[in-house]
Amino acid sequence: MEFTKSKAMLERYSASLSTSNAVSFPMVISHGEGCWLTDLDGNKYLDMMAGIAVNTTGYAHPAVVKAVQEQAAKVQHLCFAVFASEPQIELAERLKKHVGQDYRVFFGNSGTEGIEAAMKLARYHTKRPYFIAFTGSFHGRSMGALSLTASVSKYRKGFGNLVPGVFHAPYPQPYKYPRTAEMTVEHLEYLFKHTTPPEEVAAIFVEPIQGEGGYIVPPKGFMQTLRDICDKHGILLVADEVQTGVGRTGQFLACEADNVKPDIVVLAKGLASGYPISAVMFKDSISTWGPGAHGTTFGGNPVSSAAALATLDVLENSAMDNANIQGAYLLERMKAVQQKVPELGDVRGRGLMIGLEFVKENKLENPEMRDLVQKLALEKGLILLGAGSHAIRLAPPLVITSEDAKFAADVLESVILEAAKH
Ligand SMILES: Cc1ncc(COP(=O)(O)O)c(C=O)c1O
Repeated sequence: MEFTKSKAMLERYSASLSTSNAVSFPMVISHGEGCWLTDLDGNKYLDMMAGIAVNTTGYAHPAVVKAVQEQAAKVQHLCFAVFASEPQIELAERLKKHVGQDYRVFFGNSGTEGIEAAMKLARYHTKRPYFIAFTGSFHGRSMGALSLTASVSKYRKGFGNLVPGVFHAPYPQPYKYPRTAEMTVEHLEYLFKHTTPPEEVAAIFVEPIQGEGGYIVPPKGFMQTLRDICDKHGILLVADEVQTGVGRTGQFLACEADNVKPDIVVLAKGLASGYPISAVMFKDSISTWGPGAHGTTFGGNPVSSAAALATLDVLENSAMDNANIQGAYLLERMKAVQQKVPELGDVRGRGLMIGLEFVKENKLENPEMRDLVQKLALEKGLILLGAGSHAIRLAPPLVITSEDAKFAADVLESVILEAAKH
């Protein structure tokens, strides 16, 4: 593969963009269609990460393009804090159909802003100071959200002190140790007894499947266990569905797998196929804050809201079913590869949120093999992204075709077998 034009562009990038950005791909993308991307040098790739689980409808989906163009030509911005606008209202109503009629919606711009709003509402409503989150979690990088994030210490390094009053419990890790849900509950009880009076905890923040932490699927019933603990102590349960939500796991919310209704749900990434938006959905009963208590200039932008409505049309028509069908296929193919390659220690996931964990003997982390698989796959036209220190995430657009899923599985199988020889 030639990267001449991309290389020149990346040199310009390095000269002007923030050194905090972690650009790792050798190519710069020119355009996309469906699940395929083309770079500046004309190389083509099947995208199995969808802008980190964002581009639900892939690239240039005609329905999304049409909705965006029409809304942009009508009105592009009306500050949500002071103006009601039709696409926002329609979007809130559509989201309530999926999440529950007893919820309200606050629109923001990004996942981290959604988490920030959830933290503020939880404190405001409960008048309690503390939060509990989990090790391995990723909730964003603004100061409040970063205080909850506990996936990699690098994200926190140099930014202390963070928001005080956040305590962490270990997330279940069914494969690794294994660490069971019971151990997590035991640790929560330990926190309640020794450091964190439960009656002073405003909220527990949890990802129903951990994303950045390594696509870790907790045992069935874990969310219900947390719901029960929250109910016992009057704590709000906040489901961070920024990565898992909007159909990614084959259900609108990943919490649905446990039949759990959180007090607050945060959606973002996949909601508008790449247009910036987040939706914090909270029970009507906790909407005790008054006008001006919280707000944002750009949140719920009408163009993003129109893109979200078009995305929901595609999702409801077929994409959520497709996530189940293609997800089951990819899971089965990868489990078959796992039988042949002991270094592919674990294959897990729901819908189109699938994690492949690479290990050495005794389940020791194998980031070298993970990185090699990614590199070899890219040479064959498959874009993969890591999750956690030594896993790969499969999070393609939810509209991925059977043909594309087969191409992805074939390439993955061949590069995993090849990497295992090194
Ligand atoms: C579960 C989860 N929460 C929050 C965030 C933060 O979202 P954003 O990057 O849009 O601020 C992310 C981003 O990866 C995420 O995966």
